[in-house]
Parts: sequence; C-alpha cells; structure tokens
Amino acid sequence: MSNEPVRHPPHSEATSQGEGARSFPRVSRRGALALGGAAALVGGGALVIPRWVDGASSPVYMTSTDPAVAAAEQARRRTGRVIERTLTPAPSRIDLGGRVVETWSYGGSVPGKPIEVTAGDELSVRLSNGLPEPTSVHWHGVALRNDMDGVPDLTQRATDPGATFDYNFVVPDPGTYWFHPHVGVQLDTGLYAPLIVADPSEPGRYDEEVVLVLDDWTDGWGTPPTELLADFRRDGMGMGEMGGMDGMDGMEMGMPSADEPLGADTGDVSYPAHLINGRVPSAPVTVTSSPNRRVRFRIVNAASDTAYRFAIGGHRLTVTHTDGFPVVPTEVDALIVGMGERYDVVVSTGDGVFPIVASPEGKKDPAARALLRTGTGDVPPLGRRPAELSRQLLSYADLVAAPNVELGTGQVDRELTLKLTMGDEGRRWLFNGQTFEDHEPLAVAAGERVRVRLVNDSMMFHPIHLHGHTFAVARRDGRGARKDNLNVLPMQQIDIDLVADNPGRWAVHCHNAYHMELGMMTSIAYEV
Ligand code: C2O
Ligand code: CU
Repeated sequence: MSNEPVRHPPHSEATSQGEGARSFPRVSRRGALALGGAAALVGGGALVIPRWVDGASSPVYMTSTDPAVAAAEQARRRTGRVIERTLTPAPSRIDLGGRVVETWSYGGSVPGKPIEVTAGDELSVRLSNGLPEPTSVHWHGVALRNDMDGVPDLTQRATDPGATFDYNFVVPDPGTYWFHPHVGVQLDTGLYAPLIVADPSEPGRYDEEVVLVLDDWTDGWGTPPTELLADFRRDGMGMGEMGGMDGMDGMEMGMPSADEPLGADTGDVSYPAHLINGRVPSAPVTVTSSPNRRVRFRIVNAASDTAYRFAIGGHRLTVTHTDGFPVVPTEVDALIVGMGERYDVVVSTGDGVFPIVASPEGKKDPAARALLRTGTGDVPPLGRRPAELSRQLLSYADLVAAPNVELGTGQVDRELTLKLTMGDEGRRWLFNGQTFEDHEPLAVAAGERVRVRLVNDSMMFHPIHLHGHTFAVARRDGRGARKDNLNVLPMQQIDIDLVADNPGRWAVHCHNAYHMELGMMTSIAYEV
C-alpha cells in the first residue's frame, strides 16, 4: 500500500476528464446556440469552439475591450491623483546576502521597489520589457479594469522583448497587494514586488509598518525554473519523500492533520534557499524599532511552490487583514501563508532581538528569516525555531470579515463547480478535466451573485486565486472573510461566493506556478 501513488484521486483520470468535458451543460448550450448563428454567417457547418487568443471574438462572452469594462472603470471613485511609474524587467545580478545570482528582476532589486498608492488613485505604469522573452504584469488581487489585468491570451498580448505596454487603471481598494508577470514560470525568478494601497479612512492603530515578502529561491542557484517545468512535463511529479506513513491506510495517508495542516505533500520542489525581502537567512533583513511599539507587518507570499508557516519569536500576532481586506482582529502565534496569499498582522514589540521566521510548510528546506531588533541582545542562532511556530495556528475558521466588508447573505443566482485534479501522473494539473489551453470558460452574468464550489479531488493542497474580484469564503451568516487566494486542502470541498461586479474575462488558477503552467487555470467570463 505504501508504494501506491497517493496523489491519485479516487476516480480515474478518464472518468474525471469525461465528466469535466460535460459538466457545464448550461454554458455549452448557450455556446452552441450562439456559435450556430455565427457559423451560419460564415456559411460553415462545423461547430467552432471559441479560442481564447487575443483578437478572436467570441459571440458569447465579453472581450476585455467591451464597453462595459470602460463603463465599470468610469464608475470607480477616484482621488484625481495619477501615480506614474516605469517597470523595467531585465536580467540582473542580485546579491541575496553573500550569494550573488544571475536572475531577472524589476529595476535591479529583489523584491522590486514597492509601489505605494492611495485607494482611488490612478496608477499609470509603463512596462518596458528588457527581458529576452515576452512578459506581462499582473496586479495580484486588485479589482481593476479587465484589459489591464496582464493575462496573455485572455486580456492582452504578451509584451515582446524591447517593446512597451502602458498599464493605466484606478486602484479601488486599500490593502496589501503585489504584482508579477503572468507568463510561463517567470514568477519563480526575481520578478515580483509589493503594491501597497493606503486607506485614507483607516484609524491609525499602529505606529509603523513593514512589508515582508517571502520567496522560494532557485534561479541562478539551483535548477532553473524552466528546467524544473520541463522535468515535470516529461516525468510528472514524483511523490517526493513522504516519510512516516507506514501503518496508515489509503485514505488517511497524506491527508491534513494537526501536524500537517496542508496534508503530507505540500510541494514538488526542494529549494536551495528561502528568502525574506530577498535575503538568505544568514544575512537577514533587520527591522529596527523600539519596545512597546505597534508594528504592522504586511506579509506577501511570492513563492512559486512553497507555503510558509510564519511566526515572530516572543510575539503574538494580531491578524487584521487577509488578501488586502480587513477581518475582525484575531490573535494567534503562527499562520500559514499559501502562494499568492497576504496577511497583515500587528504586533506589540518586546525588548530585544527576535527572529521573524517563515518555515517552508511540509518541506525540510531551511527556513527563511529576518530579525526584529528593538533593543540590545545577541542575534538568535541560525536555525533556531521559535516555539510560536508550533503553538496556536490561525485557521480559516477563525477569520470573520470586518463589518464594513461583509458580503452578506443573498440569493445565489448561479452555482459553478471547479474540480481540481491531477492528470497524467502530475504531467498536467486540471480544472474540470481540462487544461487552460482547451478550457471552457465558466459563464457569469453581470450583477449575479455566484457561488463557486471548489472540489479538490487530489492529494495536494492548491492555493486557488481568482482575478478581478475579492470573494467571500461562504458562510451561512454571510460574514466569511474576503479573499482572492484560498488554500484548498487535499480532498476538501469548499464554497466561495462572489458578486459579479467587474465585467470581463478573468483568470482563475492555482498559484503554484508549476501547477498553473501544467494546466491548472481556467477563466470566469461575463456573458455579453
Ligand atoms: Cu498572482 Cu494570476 O496571479
Ligand atoms: Cu496546485
């Protein structure tokens, strides 16, 4: 039994594929009807499946240039201020703290320089591509106009080497966001940076703030990301070393438990280093403050294949926001941040030197760390694991939306299902049996309240990210936390609710960069 690959869902791939292809009769019927009309116009008889390539027109779904997209942008409240920036992704030599790597970065630093705006500002960013391949910029978590979302084949054409693209949009909601390319596995290079959106109406409940960006690092050091991807495509994803499972039976094997809250198999890549703000643990970034201050940490997980367990030695964490949106403050010792997720926490500082640790969840790789220095004292030894890491861990069940951002209860107008499966022994990862290339969009209509049922039929967790909307984790009382990025556990089924208030076509995908490239991406498309 212990030699059985545990990642197989209980259904065979053939079954889930077959179901996937037929699981959206409503969409297919509409598609077939509308396409029938289009086909008649060109005199053809064959049924054509809409292709999601730039420039192709679909008779059923809005394109990114639909007038509804511009109208939604017009309706956004704005300060009248325009913030202008230039982003120049290019090959760079980066010092990670004694280790210099050849990688790609925005403007020569990792992370890239944060962009700071206030809610309602218009952001005007010229992307000037200094890379040897096409790229794009995606503004992760921002409910922006669809044609500025940066997803090739869905909202724009990727920008060629030497070419430019101008991103112009109003940033509607305050919070902690970030940006990165949406091409290939460029995310697993140094191409990422924070986008911090200030809230003009926020009561100052903290004295200072610090952004911490977590990342798993291999580029220019270990196996290059493109090679990792090629290996997965060729060989699939092996089981990795999953020790300690003797004596368990098939169903329990690898499932989430108190010791392994994301399950036994959390990732497929062992990284040479894990970084906080671009620094290896032996040369950490130091946050300097003084005792009895309230420090807000904005934590961003920019990693490609690693969830982190985060804690600060000697401190409790008051969680105030997740994915940019406020929650009813709740106190814990540690929290798990999936790829793409963000948490804001406030700590009340002690006196001394404390480790800020991000431990790769479910991996044996050495943890990332930074330091919090508020007084005198020795730097804690490298590798010291703060006790907080194994104390009270935040669970999604602890998260309740702050009253001002509750989605509330309401009649669900449409229910969609997304089934998450592994295909071809990990050479592909699928939504409803399909990869992005051959996916059938999930249809919504503007104004609807939509429930998406995420059904994980695989033995890995997947951090599922929706573009352009901040959904609510479904709860009967309508008070579920607002998020755009959610860890869906092995074999778990969980519902998210959203209001379709941002017209266009939006990516939904697993934020494991390799799973996404191996197919685990689809789109939610507004009907015309
Ligand atoms: Cu941060 Cu579509 O991603
Ligand atoms: Cu995944």
